[in-house]
Amino acid sequence: MKTINDSMAQEHRRCDELFVEMEQAIMQHRWSEAERLCRDFTVAMEHHFKIEEELLFPVLLKATAEARGPVNVMLAEHAQMRQLMSQLVDSLDNMSRTLSAGYVETLLVTMQQHNMKEESILYPMADETVPAVGDAIAKAYSESV
Ligand SMILES: [Fe+2]
Ligand SMILES: [Fe+2]
Repeated sequence: MKTINDSMAQEHRRCDELFVEMEQAIMQHRWSEAERLCRDFTVAMEHHFKIEEELLFPVLLKATAEARGPVNVMLAEHAQMRQLMSQLVDSLDNMSRTLSAGYVETLLVTMQQHNMKEESILYPMADETVPAVGDAIAKAYSESV
């Protein structure tokens, strides 16, 4: 059976792939494609955040007090990434496209560090304490496709 870490890490990889496509379009100044790819990327990220915030984190917090610190850090980083994504969307919309490369760079670093923390700390903790939530996560993802 797939662990929570397996399913969620797979979703991180999917978001990474969408990110790379978007980044290439921005770097090559293919603006209309960049806007479309940016929409796909932000939708996938928002969906992933929602599964964590509404499904995984609440169950984990209920199960163990140890999760409080790491979950708070993850929530703060989600807020940071949401802010960066909205700045990126605005920069692509508002004729300030030269700024978009900067947002993409910051977003990449923040996202990589965030995902690494989840995959090495938070998801293993979830697999240990609330493995059953893996089924609900798999279901949430299968319904979204
Ligand atoms: Fe997260
Ligand atoms: Fe995540």
